[in-house]
Amino acid sequence: MPTWVITGANRGLGLEFAKQLLAAGHTVLAGVRRPESMEFEHAQMTVFQLDVASTTSVKDFAEQIKSVTDSIDVLVNNAGRMDGRWQSIEKVDPELSLDVLNVNTIGPLRVSQALWPLLQGSTPTKIANISSLMGSIDDCMSGRSYAYRTSKTGLNMITKILAVEGQNDNITVTSYHPGWAKTDMGGERAPVPASVSVEGLINLINQQTEGRSGRFFEYTGDELPW
Ligand SMILES: NC(=O)c1ccc[n+]([C@@H]2O[C@H](COP(=O)([O-])OP(=O)(O)OC[C@H]3O[C@@H](n4cnc5c(N)ncnc54)[C@H](OP(=O)(O)O)[C@@H]3O)[C@@H](O)[C@H]2O)c1
Repeated sequence: MPTWVITGANRGLGLEFAKQLLAAGHTVLAGVRRPESMEFEHAQMTVFQLDVASTTSVKDFAEQIKSVTDSIDVLVNNAGRMDGRWQSIEKVDPELSLDVLNVNTIGPLRVSQALWPLLQGSTPTKIANISSLMGSIDDCMSGRSYAYRTSKTGLNMITKILAVEGQNDNITVTSYHPGWAKTDMGGERAPVPASVSVEGLINLINQQTEGRSGRFFEYTGDELPW
């Protein structure tokens, strides 16, 4: 069965990914910022420390993964953080914005770079970047949320660039919007249960082939504008 790496797997959509994949018989290598916060255990899951904002931590994470396997099938770049959300131009905090960009944009790039050698090979492999409709320039109607929106727009560009580079290495790379999903980030008012969002995302990632690489889909399967 395929081996999946999930970042930010201790809560929210990441934990839901781990649970659904394990129930389907897959192997999960979970990246978690504070391993002690991971309350869920499973024989087919190994938990490793990972702070996607730290190059050292990401390198250590990749080394630990290399010590247990020489290949992975799917990397889900799920870990992410919000900003002050509805901040006006007067309220934007540049330092906080840099951290949001570091976690949400450079984090997935760091992890993809570190695990690229484990994805390369003759067998097709996949990177799924968990983006957001809030990163869509076409869809930006309400403004605000400067750092979060920009971080996901940047992640979408990274998806596109990696998808081009991945053609030489049998790696497809696609961006996904999980919907407004009920998690700590999505909040109580979110209409989409985390289980429904992740079920849709896994279904789409299973269908992720070359023709879908470098594109942006919602968990429902609808394609989204950049
Ligand atoms: N929920 C939604 O409505 C929604 C909508 C669109 C997109 N998304 C995207 O979906 C992804 C998952 O979101 P969620 O709703 O599950 O959020 P969440 O409930 O807030 O969980 C966020 C996860 O990311 C981890 N994380 C944050 N910073 C990290 C870092 N520097 N290194 C490693 N892990 C880190 C958190 O770990 P800690 O426990 O250590 O903080 C946690 O596991 C995110 O990329 C988010 O932007 C969510």
